[in-house]
Amino acid sequence: MNTYQLNNGVEIPVLGFGTWKAENGEIAYQAVLEALKAGYRHIDTAAIYKNEESVGRAIQDSGVPREELFVTTKLWNSQQTYEQARQAFAESLAKLGLDYLDLYLIHWPNPKLLRENDQWKIRAIGVSNFLPHHLDALLETAKILPAVNQVRLAPGVYQEEVVAYCREKGILLEAWGPFGQGELFDSKQVQEIAANHGKSVAQIALAWSLAEGFLPLPKSVTASRIQANLDCFGIELSHEEHETLKTIAVQSGAPRVDDVDF
Ligand SMILES: NC(=O)c1ccc[n+]([C@@H]2O[C@H](COP(=O)([O-])OP(=O)(O)OC[C@H]3O[C@@H](n4cnc5c(N)ncnc54)[C@H](OP(=O)(O)O)[C@@H]3O)[C@@H](O)[C@H]2O)c1
Repeated sequence: MNTYQLNNGVEIPVLGFGTWKAENGEIAYQAVLEALKAGYRHIDTAAIYKNEESVGRAIQDSGVPREELFVTTKLWNSQQTYEQARQAFAESLAKLGLDYLDLYLIHWPNPKLLRENDQWKIRAIGVSNFLPHHLDALLETAKILPAVNQVRLAPGVYQEEVVAYCREKGILLEAWGPFGQGELFDSKQVQEIAANHGKSVAQIALAWSLAEGFLPLPKSVTASRIQANLDCFGIELSHEEHETLKTIAVQSGAPRVDDVDF
């Protein structure tokens, strides 16, 4: 899989496998195993998804060499003091059964507590759900520019200001909820574009995301979808289709933390 280069030089596969709501135990284990078998090399989890153990077990059992994988997890909101963060990081690493992480994200903004990465076993650090004012506050004191901002981005969910801000600073945008968390599948306009290309709505949504230069994180626990979603490369959307997807009305706006049902 192709990669983007992060602002610290680390290479990151252009598409990641989402695991939110992939229940710990057999469901998450099988989904991640299936994803690795299908060719995904970038897995996105979080402490709050409570499935790091199953994700880790699937990684070990997949037989894919560690250096070929890119693994992201996230620090939860209640653990953002320096000591708590160190402890949470160690716990995530142990649950995942890894000796280093590729990317560690602050899951939701709490800027003043981002600290140094010097002694940690992490290849890149980043943030999630940070808006420009959160990033401004962070950058007043942070020693390290976040490599990534993982935000909600999908056709019809275009957070213009944060997109412009991160592009200008060289912070890679990861797109969570790349299918509008399921809402896109009912859109007639997206179905039409998909039919024009002989592709699925999911594949079109991912192609759009890649064309924007985002890094989409599609989630599925269904083997056939896990495989089919990977077939999203090389789809050439016309300018008109691209703009239609950008502005399509599918939902009411980006969520706040309390809108999200973790
Ligand atoms: N940083 C954050 O705050 C944050 C917040 C939310 C999500 N995320 C990350 O982003 C990932 C993706 O977001 P998401 O899980 O919320 O939403 P999503 O990937 O946009 O949508 C997932 C839904 O789409 C369904 N689906 C997947 N492929 C499909 C296909 N080809 N056809 C029809 N339905 C399909 C899945 O069903 P099945 O699973 O039943 O197949 C699931 O219900 C998460 O898993 C997580 O890793 C991060």
